[in-house]
Amino acid sequence: MHEHDVIVVGAGGAGLRAAIAAQEEGADVAIVSKLHPVRSHTGAAEGGINAALREGDSWQDHAYDTMKGSDYLGDAPAIETLAQDSPEEVIQLEHWGMAFSREDDGRVSQRPFGGLSFPRTTYAGAETGHQLLHTMYEQLVKRGIEVYDEWYVLDLAVSDEEKPEERTCHGVVGYDIQSGNIEGFRARDGVILATGGLGQVFDHTTNAVANTGDGVAMAYRAGVPIEDMEFIQFHPTTLPSTGVLITEGVRGEGGILYNENGERFMFEYGYANNDGELASRDVVSRAELTEVNEGRGIEDEYVHLDMRHLGEERIVDRLENIIHLSEDFEGVDPLEEPMPVKPGQHYAMGGIETDENGETCITGLYAAGECACASVHGSNRLGGNALPELIVFGARAGHHAAGRDLGEAEIPTGKRGEWEPGDVETPVDPGDVGTPSGDAVADGGAAAEGPGLAPDELVDRETEQVSRRVEALLERDGRNHSEIRSEVQTSMTENVNVFREEEGLKQALRDIREAREDYQEVGVADQSRTFNTDLLHTIETRNIIDLAEAITLGALAREEFRGAHWRKEHQERKDEEWLKHTMLSWNDGAPELWFKPVLLEGEEKRYEPKIRSY
Ligand code: FUM
Repeated sequence: MHEHDVIVVGAGGAGLRAAIAAQEEGADVAIVSKLHPVRSHTGAAEGGINAALREGDSWQDHAYDTMKGSDYLGDAPAIETLAQDSPEEVIQLEHWGMAFSREDDGRVSQRPFGGLSFPRTTYAGAETGHQLLHTMYEQLVKRGIEVYDEWYVLDLAVSDEEKPEERTCHGVVGYDIQSGNIEGFRARDGVILATGGLGQVFDHTTNAVANTGDGVAMAYRAGVPIEDMEFIQFHPTTLPSTGVLITEGVRGEGGILYNENGERFMFEYGYANNDGELASRDVVSRAELTEVNEGRGIEDEYVHLDMRHLGEERIVDRLENIIHLSEDFEGVDPLEEPMPVKPGQHYAMGGIETDENGETCITGLYAAGECACASVHGSNRLGGNALPELIVFGARAGHHAAGRDLGEAEIPTGKRGEWEPGDVETPVDPGDVGTPSGDAVADGGAAAEGPGLAPDELVDRETEQVSRRVEALLERDGRNHSEIRSEVQTSMTENVNVFREEEGLKQALRDIREAREDYQEVGVADQSRTFNTDLLHTIETRNIIDLAEAITLGALAREEFRGAHWRKEHQERKDEEWLKHTMLSWNDGAPELWFKPVLLEGEEKRYEPKIRSY
């Protein structure tokens, strides 16, 4: 068994920042990651990092913009923490040598991004995530932090108490992708999940193939509530044939969206009379699809994003990466022609419920970055707020897990604070739902042997159980995962997209539950031990099914239109009824729906919900 004080699962921006912070506290820390750190999906982040750095800007304005962007579903303690801590974190990155774009006078450049009242997005060309990842990886190497890369974490080792709030996480079970060995990792002080996004639940996404929501699914099965899962961000500018991201920075620098008639539709049809292309992402995505649905799209599918008027010098200086992406993935030279773009899944606003210190309701279990929900983004994330979230909450989780006192959190986790039960109409009898994952592979959650095992014994027991299940899976002759996965992805993109209606959501739920049935028959054809991607993808598919169900259940439950969640039957934001978070807990073999109130009380004021227009 491997043993460390703090184990960080995932090596993207949040994982690296958490590991550095824990090490700064003197902890023996290790990262366990399915990818090598510099291959993490943070490297694909293009546009930038929001931080109130300049005269004329303030953390209060950043917090207000974020709350408004969230459509008043973010929690003020988390939002204010983000806005207060991000300047210091950005300065820290600069001191570590991050190659930010700069003004002629040497200051770090900032540009406008959607939904911001001040141009506060710092950036490094159109490859900000890449620069951030490499800067932090250098720190990791310098500090000698141990990395188990190409180790896929299959499960958490969590104690067996009945209530999640009484359980403790003592480690994880990892699968060495190179050798096929399954080994336990004991964490003396804490486990931090930083596993990133879940974009592979959909079939048109900016996310990498590795983004299968592993940490969210694992935590859910271990008893941690998952929060606001229905809120999925569809980025307005992705390349139609691949989903590759074209940064909002293009619009931040002055890029313009046109429909088939050459009309600047954001203004022409009144979607956002003030901010136009730089309205919030949910607004722009709906506008684009409305153009297509009303017959003004191009090839009935997309619109045009034009940046030619910015001139080659400025484009090369600030957006060079976009030229290559557009040429390589769409065959369009954006210096010569407008780029075709359409909305694509980009980000999950919801995730593992945490407080503002990154802690979940299970002692010793933390989450940070996209897999977590503190909740900073509410029902819609502002562009440029993902990278500060990684570094701010990654750092806090790392410090806290390693023992630093960050003060008592204001956000209650689990069923500790105020909450109310929920109910959701489902097209199948919940009694028929089965386990969230099928029995075919590692089964997460508390085991049946009762509390009382020593932490080492618990990690050993979990490791043995996971090994047995993986062996059984390898020996079984069954259905290939890929068909099951793609049925879920197709249904999610068709039915749980930018525009949602009840019948489509119910259809998605039926498809997901059929996939769950099919998954009971899944098998792995490749019996080899080394780099067995067939096995990995089979296990990931189970996570995709569990999270697709959670997203859809949340979307069915929330009978209002808020932020990125548009419902045909419910065309209004309903503050009296719905200023609350959607929570799902895995409970007695079925998803349990409940709600907890949104926290709008800030340090200096209460954020009163207002009409949100751009
Ligand atoms: O458009 C972008 O560059 C993406 C940024 C973000 O999601 O924050």
